[in-house]
Amino acid sequence: MSRFVSIAKTSEIPPGERAFYEVEGIYIAVFNVGGTYYAIEDACTHDDGPLAEGDLHGFELECPRHGARFDIRTGDALSMPAVTPTGVFPVKVDGDDILIELPD
Ligand code: FES
Repeated sequence: MSRFVSIAKTSEIPPGERAFYEVEGIYIAVFNVGGTYYAIEDACTHDDGPLAEGDLHGFELECPRHGARFDIRTGDALSMPAVTPTGVFPVKVDGDDILIELPD
């Protein structure tokens, strides 16, 4: 089971921007890439450091600590030193609300 929870208003995250949230103890960054929202856990699987303040190249997010890259669409680790995916959360927009799907 899972459920969608409201995390932000669309006006908070214009295209090209990102915002950070804590939801039920999970640190999550939401990116707006060309009008589509992507939610990724703000945790690098290399060393559990914060991830989402890193540079974004297309859909590749570069960890600011040691440079591992992750796909914000899938969470997949794309380069060393990370080898394990990080979490991603399905996103939907309802009116001006951004909702993410959390596991129960
Ligand atoms: S903590 Fe992210 S690459 Fe090391």
